[in-house]
Amino acid sequence: MQDEIKVPQLSEEELATGEAIFTRTVSELGDKQTIVAQEDIYSETGIKLVSSGTKIRDKVWDRIVNHKLNKPITESVSFDNCVTVEEIVSNARSIIQTELFYIRLAHSISDPKYLLNSIKNITLPQQIAKKFTVLRDARPRLFQHSIRSAIIASYLAFFHNLDASECERLITAALLHDIGEMHIDPSILDPNHILTAEERRFVCVHPVTGYLMLKSISEFHRDVATAVLQHHERLDGSGYPSWLKGNQISLLGQVLSLVEVTEALTYKFLEPREIRLALNFNRKGFNPNFIDYLLQSFKDDDINYPEEISIKEGDIKKQLGHISSVYNSSVKVSSFAEGKESLASLNNRLKTLRYQLAEFGFDPKDHESLFEINKEEPESVEAIALMVREYLWHNKDLLLFIEYNKEQIEEGLDKEGKQAVSDLKKQLMTAIK
Ligand SMILES: [Fe+2]
Ligand SMILES: [Fe+2]
Repeated sequence: MQDEIKVPQLSEEELATGEAIFTRTVSELGDKQTIVAQEDIYSETGIKLVSSGTKIRDKVWDRIVNHKLNKPITESVSFDNCVTVEEIVSNARSIIQTELFYIRLAHSISDPKYLLNSIKNITLPQQIAKKFTVLRDARPRLFQHSIRSAIIASYLAFFHNLDASECERLITAALLHDIGEMHIDPSILDPNHILTAEERRFVCVHPVTGYLMLKSISEFHRDVATAVLQHHERLDGSGYPSWLKGNQISLLGQVLSLVEVTEALTYKFLEPREIRLALNFNRKGFNPNFIDYLLQSFKDDDINYPEEISIKEGDIKKQLGHISSVYNSSVKVSSFAEGKESLASLNNRLKTLRYQLAEFGFDPKDHESLFEINKEEPESVEAIALMVREYLWHNKDLLLFIEYNKEQIEEGLDKEGKQAVSDLKKQLMTAIK
């Protein structure tokens, strides 16, 4: 346990903007929920906006969202259909019964009831239940992400022999880890949205917002808030918001960061094999013991999936060739973009993609060797195939980005530069065909 926790500071303005976004989200739930003022609601300046007992809808909301309130809105209202622990357990049960990855988790432990029983034991104080209700109704995917994270957390707690109270803290943190996201404007979280620097800051502080919400809840041990604060940190120091390294990250924080990434993988990949490989890829950022616990749930894969592993050698070689061409074109574009503000985000994307390839051991001058060296190892061939597939996805995104920002990109380039971008587009299209 850490004695002193490094918490990045949020300005008054950032806190107020986040709170206003949350209040607006609550106001938009009017058609799904009956929301009633439990007490008089006041603005920060002491003006009474709504009387206790008022059903809050339409015009009343206008009054509320246009003012800064004297306290968070959820403290002053009640919901007719508030999230309960039973509802969370029931959602978790159906996930464990129907989704392959979670079926595996339940079957890989000696006490299959453990996963649900440990979720049943958590406490959800009213104040947090209300916020979580808003999350459930306004952001269904985030709600599912939270519940699946709680299941994975429970599985890891079992393998790591966490005692009952630590297990409860971990599961609570897993369930609530992204509650700070409710203070981010949802439009900037759209995967197709390109973040400005200021928006990126908003996204990156959501663990801090979550920490601030949870640390004052007396029912929660302080480790819950700390784990939430650290859920995007990485062991190798590449995470955020504080770039902590190794044991600077609490044990629960280490588990939680792996938990939430694993959930994202289970959402992205349907094949357990792909999840397993992606976990293996990401070893540097996470506690290897916990990765190994997760990999245990795949231990019978090789028996079950002999056919699907066969990946055509020719296909991979061809795709590596395409990737090499994209790489070279991207270097060319970067040479024109260097130092130009209008091309900074394109250049950053290109650099990140090249960096990821280099990290994987891809050499654009000798792309065949990556396959040749590994071809006798089925596991490595799978890893290369997964890398290729991941990379092609990124290529699709990159192409969309270039199309979407065409004018801005072309504006900063001379004839030769424009030609380089057009070549890159051609290579991208060939690769993703
Ligand atoms: Fe997060
Ligand atoms: Fe998350």
